[in-house]
Amino acid sequence: MCGIVGYIGTKKACPILLAGLTRLEYRGYDSAGISTIEKDCIKIVKDKGRVKELENKKEIKDLQGTVGIAHTRWATHGKPSKENAHPHKDNSNTFSVVHNGIIENYYDLRNLLEENGYKFYSETDTEVIPNLIHYYYKKELAINNEHTVQTFLRVVRNACLDIKGSYALEIISKDFPEYMIVVRKDSPLVIGTCKDEKYISSDIPAILSYTRDFYFLNDLEFAVLKNDDIKFYDTNLNQIDKKISNIEWDAMSSEKNGYEDFMLKEIYEQPTAIRETIGSRISVDNKCEFEELPLTKKELENIDKIYIIACGTAMHAGLAGKNVIEKLCRIPTEVDIASEFRYRDPIINNRTLSIFISQSGETADTIAALKLAKKSGSKTIAISNVIGSSITREADYSIYTHAGPEIAVASTKAYTSQVILVNMLAIYFAEILEKSNKEEIRNLKKEILELPKKIGETFNCAERIKQFAKKIYQEKDVFFLGRGIDETVAKEGSLKLKEISYIHSESYPAGELKHGPIALIESGITVIGILTDKLLVDKTVNNIQEVITRGARTLIITNQNVNYSMFDEVIIIPKVNTFLSPILSIIPLQLLAYYISKEKGLDVDKPRNLAKSVTVE
Ligand code: M6R
Repeated sequence: MCGIVGYIGTKKACPILLAGLTRLEYRGYDSAGISTIEKDCIKIVKDKGRVKELENKKEIKDLQGTVGIAHTRWATHGKPSKENAHPHKDNSNTFSVVHNGIIENYYDLRNLLEENGYKFYSETDTEVIPNLIHYYYKKELAINNEHTVQTFLRVVRNACLDIKGSYALEIISKDFPEYMIVVRKDSPLVIGTCKDEKYISSDIPAILSYTRDFYFLNDLEFAVLKNDDIKFYDTNLNQIDKKISNIEWDAMSSEKNGYEDFMLKEIYEQPTAIRETIGSRISVDNKCEFEELPLTKKELENIDKIYIIACGTAMHAGLAGKNVIEKLCRIPTEVDIASEFRYRDPIINNRTLSIFISQSGETADTIAALKLAKKSGSKTIAISNVIGSSITREADYSIYTHAGPEIAVASTKAYTSQVILVNMLAIYFAEILEKSNKEEIRNLKKEILELPKKIGETFNCAERIKQFAKKIYQEKDVFFLGRGIDETVAKEGSLKLKEISYIHSESYPAGELKHGPIALIESGITVIGILTDKLLVDKTVNNIQEVITRGARTLIITNQNVNYSMFDEVIIIPKVNTFLSPILSIIPLQLLAYYISKEKGLDVDKPRNLAKSVTVE
């Protein structure tokens, strides 16, 4: 849940590190710090607070070195404080380390090190790492007083073998001032490369303005970096080859481009995100194509169950996609929350297909669920927005949403891109299986291709939503209701509102209301209804009538013919195939959450207690 960035090159590291941290701040923002090598000694400047505050510190100007590491923190072990902020160094000031992840056995390691005379000055799990490295370093030097980079590598590797948990680490040392070592296990880390410079980061967008050429490490692979050289090693310290991946994302897509907030920009990027995700995969008269998914008819016929597994918004995208898979492929499909799935002993075998959805591709629970499914014999497909992310390296097959970098903590364009991708996947499977009605699939394809335009039309509601936000921003509770696919959107709308406006909200299948929650409805409470499924609209209207009778204020998102005069506010969205309706009906709800958050003067892109990517359990 933290962000790390590193630089080794010919320029002053500090400004590059600060710029990287600012871009990574969405991953954690309670403290920040930088460490550079200065004339063969290590300097650290760190404190609690945001990157801006770090940037304004007097000491930051003293950092002149061309090798440096940096960190923005989301506290796990120990409160936000200067002592707990990263980088952390060992007792002898030889090694400096930044870490994203969690060391599960840090207590045991700390005891071992304390028994060997080491002292600890923070409450963090991370502080054991530089000291453990130093512990092995001392041992090495006692046997052989050789100061080669291989010694540096060996002692880092030895420490990593002792560590249980997840980590992305950047390590610098005053004894090896021209080098940096990086390694990862279950936490994200990418390496950007140019001729005389190397950039390291938790994600691609933070360093995309410097290079498009990236290396990705697998678990427990080590990179030894110099400004003009990189060598890679496996756990046994055998040198290995790595291919460079060229990333096509536009550097401007990681900037706000005149929008006040990333979230607003990302909401308005949805037509492009959907268009890019559709790409050339769909055309009305040809079969849907997924080259990266070469599944045969026989293999698909063998599948008797599909799981869709994800967390948060990505899980809601799975819920929105379940029906289309079942309808077109006639394969029972279950949607699971990754953190539940991994501990509930799910029934998985070689007839199971498990689809994992993750914008970042780094969500710890989703990765763990994937490993479990794979181990139990399931075929696995990863859907991610980030090329080379952990989940895509674990899965048998990976397919990508092409939403571009999503920076705001609240997911918007990734969600709609995931929903469209699952719809296309359903079509792809159905066409291979030759199960579905050809005309139905043809119509669905046509509608998919019309979506970018319809999303554009949906934005017309923005001003009315803004005005509605002004009316309800001081509310304490909001209810979201829907049936069928609309209920999945109710869930997502409710999550968006909670995340960035801090208003308590509940989402319910409309029919469940009278089984308990209706007791909470009182005069003036806001109820938001989503009504896009023709077959269910009358039923939902009846349920909403019940809350109107009890004095609720209502906002309706619909593309159906209903008696508009019943409701306080009605937002009409374009008509669309029910399977695709979440892509349109979520837009007013994304905007509502956004405008309420603005009205309350909150930090939309970095809501309290949250980080973009949940890389710890
Ligand atoms: O990167 P992922 O898609 O795996 O992230 C999953 C959730 O953490 C994420 O969707 C979260 O719920 C968002 N903050 C929602 O806006």
